[in-house]
Amino acid sequence: MINVLFVCLGNICRSPMAEAVFQRLVEQEGLADQFHIDSVGTSNYHTGDPAYPGTRQILAANGIRYYGCSRTITTTDLNQADYIISMDHSNKANVQAMSRRTSPKGQMALLLDFAEKTNLSEVPDPYYTNNFTEVYRVVDDGCRGLLAHIRQEQAI
Ligand code: 4NP
Repeated sequence: MINVLFVCLGNICRSPMAEAVFQRLVEQEGLADQFHIDSVGTSNYHTGDPAYPGTRQILAANGIRYYGCSRTITTTDLNQADYIISMDHSNKANVQAMSRRTSPKGQMALLLDFAEKTNLSEVPDPYYTNNFTEVYRVVDDGCRGLLAHIRQEQAI
């Protein structure tokens, strides 16, 4: 199984959206049985909470259901992931700091490293911007590029 882990701060807005969008892309491409996809937060601010209403609404508007709840990243998550995909530089730095205490084998990147239609390097935080439409657009762009990258790298 190819293990993909999406990371943001609260695990209620951006990384659940990326998890859900990537899961649907993988299903659409007939690859669901080859992937384990999850998302986590670097904070515990919202542990146990469902995804933020704006995230659930924009997912639903695009025909995607999401039932996950927020949880905080663990060293086990880091060690098991093949791709550790952060939504912004701060999350990535937190993951890298945690990695010094363990030995993750996976690649660490920003989601928008794989996006082709935006110049943004970070997924804007809709918890503050409330712009879930823009976030969905760049998350979808990044997820498409990420899946293409993984398919090429894993030869699937
Ligand atoms: P997320 O958004 O990292 O995309 O889930 C946030 C959610 C909660 C907070 C910040 C960002 N917060 O400060 O509680």
